[in-house]
Amino acid sequence: MSFNIKNNVTWVGKIDWELQRFHGYEYSTHCGSTYNSYLIKEEKVVLIDTVWGPYSKEFVKNLANEIDLNKIDYIIANHAETDHSGALPELMQHIPETPIYCTKNGIKSLKGQYHQDWNFKVVKTGDKLSLGNKELIFVEMPMLHWPDSMLCYLTGDEILFSNDAFGHHYASEFMFADLVHQGELFTECIKYYANILTPFSSMVIKKINEILSFNLPLDMICPSHGMIWRDHPEQIIKQYLKWADNYQENQITIIYDTMWNSTRKMAEYIAKGIKESDKEVNVKLYHLEKRDKNDVITEIFKSKGVIIGSPTINRGILTSIAAILELIKGLKFKGKKAASFGSYGWSGESAKIISNSLKESGFEMVDEVLKVTWNPDNESIEKCVKYGKKIAKAFA
Ligand code: FEO
Repeated sequence: MSFNIKNNVTWVGKIDWELQRFHGYEYSTHCGSTYNSYLIKEEKVVLIDTVWGPYSKEFVKNLANEIDLNKIDYIIANHAETDHSGALPELMQHIPETPIYCTKNGIKSLKGQYHQDWNFKVVKTGDKLSLGNKELIFVEMPMLHWPDSMLCYLTGDEILFSNDAFGHHYASEFMFADLVHQGELFTECIKYYANILTPFSSMVIKKINEILSFNLPLDMICPSHGMIWRDHPEQIIKQYLKWADNYQENQITIIYDTMWNSTRKMAEYIAKGIKESDKEVNVKLYHLEKRDKNDVITEIFKSKGVIIGSPTINRGILTSIAAILELIKGLKFKGKKAASFGSYGWSGESAKIISNSLKESGFEMVDEVLKVTWNPDNESIEKCVKYGKKIAKAFA
């Protein structure tokens, strides 16, 4: 499959309807994904990025139907991660001398993965590559989200090939953002930002402002995953600036796991207390064991505060809670408040362990941890409701 995007620019990627997990098992892709590769046929012919390795044969065959491979003058590797470079080994068997333009770190990454001494050409921010009447301008994007990442801009057609930036894991045969269900689309966009880009938010703001300072006219943004932004492409840039600026909604998320329902009851009565104290706030509860961890991370991203609970087991916490705390630590959320709770029979360390972890991850902890023994009785239930009320005020 291929389709024309604008003038001499053609999409030659792969729509992966089957993808359920990305980055190993780390990222759930409920809506599949796409690996976008673009072919520009000007006086010079350029291929921008490829697709994930398992689709390399299909990709090269498809590309050969579009153009005689020997007519490709340049390959641009905006990012060396294997979902975009995975078809290079197959392609380079056909055109081994074709220069590959990438950043200095891109060479390290590509060599490290494929152990090939291809004809690499290093580009830096501001470098230009002439295609005849049009040119490609390169902008390095170190750590957005790998050291090698970069994007490029096609003059004349005014297209920004942004690679992972402004992407989303979403499969659709429409392939244009304005043609798909907007709720589904933005659900995947915010999940992608929350789970991948959160730790780099300050760099996101800096880099976007740098790109905007070039005053380049923008007709389309072509990311490497998901739909192409052609209707008001600046909408996703504005959205990124919002998300990168310690984003939060009027939401409190309660996350818990439970063995015999005591911690679940605590969660529900804490929620009751919050609602009694603050009618406006959106309180959401997630029994982690039954939920997708990346969806829960997205809810944390949207929240002004989180409350996390686990019963005590073997002087520790349940493994689902330990796993999400580890994820949270890496994502470096900023400007969020937190509290913790848990039921126990005899030793009761869980709430404190959670609290210490959240503190270490940069959350502002409010109030004491809440601990309840055994199955909450009326007195403990009252304590949970009161705790919820206090938290609502502290999070306000
Ligand atoms: Fe889509 Fe960082 O690769």
